[in-house]
Amino acid sequence: AVPVIAIDGPSASGKGSVAERVAAQLGWEVLDSGALYRIVALAAVRAGVALDDEAGVAAIAARLPARFDAGRVWLGGDEVSTEIRSEACSSGASQVAALPAVREALLARQRDYRTRPGLVADGRDMGSVVFPDAGLKIFLTASAEARAERRYKQLMAKGLPANMHDLLSDLQERDARDAMRAVAPLQKLPDAVLLDTTDLDIDGAVAFIVDLVRD
Ligand code: CDP
Repeated sequence: AVPVIAIDGPSASGKGSVAERVAAQLGWEVLDSGALYRIVALAAVRAGVALDDEAGVAAIAARLPARFDAGRVWLGGDEVSTEIRSEACSSGASQVAALPAVREALLARQRDYRTRPGLVADGRDMGSVVFPDAGLKIFLTASAEARAERRYKQLMAKGLPANMHDLLSDLQERDARDAMRAVAPLQKLPDAVLLDTTDLDIDGAVAFIVDLVRD
């Protein structure tokens, strides 16, 4: 089977950057599953479908014209790379991700990313649901304060509005929703390696994972 590294963890733990760099070092493909949920939320809003309309949102997810290309994200003919990172899309993604039919509609598409020579997949349920047979599972985390600070810097760098206090409370709210939901709750699996990056930078986290793969 094509090897998979599953990187799961809470919001702003650095999963996206770490997954991208691990993939680049290994020459593997990368799947940012959170981006798919973000694009679904955006597509639903644009189509006027309520984010709690399970069948409506699932229909959008099933034929989502989403494309990833060299770090850029497209919804149909529109580049949405920046828009999907807004707090509105973060919150919308977390809402649509709680709907079982939406998760089901995205399953086959996510598994299609598994191509040679290997895949680094990041999200909440990569190790539990999408790639339960992944050869390496990482649970990437950091303190809520460290994560809020990272998200703040990211938003500022993109010129998007950001407020530390709101970010921290929003993160904690989404963590609770991701951990307590009935479908694919965020949890550290018994067979996952815990990687706490509160005091570790991205390069350190990447080196840790690449070393595990090469062992
Ligand atoms: O960047 P951040 O970690 O905040 O978010 P993300 O990884 O882009 O995911 C956005 C939202 O999608 C999360 O709050 C999760 O609720 C949801 N998600 C999920 O349920 N399952 C995944 N595999 C990935 C994301």
